Amino acid sequence: MQLYLDSANMKEIEIINSYGFINGITTNPSLLAKEDPSLSIKDLIVSIYKTIGGHVSVEVNSTDTAGMLKEAEEILSWFPEATIKIPMIPNGLAAVKELSKQDIPTNVTLIFTAMQALAANNAGASYVSVFVGRLDDIGTDGMIAVKDTCEIWDRHGLESQIIAASIRHPIHILDCAKAGADIATVPYKVLSQILHHSLTDSGLASFISDHKKMLAAKEQ
Ligand code: E4P
Repeated sequence: MQLYLDSANMKEIEIINSYGFINGITTNPSLLAKEDPSLSIKDLIVSIYKTIGGHVSVEVNSTDTAGMLKEAEEILSWFPEATIKIPMIPNGLAAVKELSKQDIPTNVTLIFTAMQALAANNAGASYVSVFVGRLDDIGTDGMIAVKDTCEIWDRHGLESQIIAASIRHPIHILDCAKAGADIATVPYKVLSQILHHSLTDSGLASFISDHKKMLAAKEQ
């Protein structure tokens, strides 16, 4: 399962990218709104793409099909490798259909059920983003949507890549990997959490101190 960073923050993107284990970035209008308002959205998105050089999902803000297609065209003029992120609404599916005819990759977002994922796949989505944490937030089990989607995909050999989104903690990543999601897009804080373990830190401290002791003994 690939890991993407869910962020529009250049500092976070540069740090995580330098570690070499992520394959892409997903952004959304709320993540972009957290960044310095003096930065142009185009410049920020292009810097993100130049840093990552891989998958970057950029979301449209229109709710009508023509508006979404116009925005997609603008985003693609910034960098032609962009994946266009489209909300899971009927007009969005029509835009996905149109973009898929032109071989433009799309990521259908705000999916909360396997049936929505199926509709997005059938419209031609390259990626379906199934949100876990927001379902947990309303007192339901968000993992069910990912598990159902993976089961349907396995049974029917469907093509869209399944992105587990709205990830809140490391167990979500573990469960999505076990369920068979292709990708999990994860906030910086949670990606940092999965890299650390207290036994790794204490083990490394012992190795460093034993190595120093051994060098000191050899010098005597
Ligand atoms: C997915 O692509 C979204 O950007 C994201 O995962 C939303 O997560 P949230 O529920 O933490 O806002």
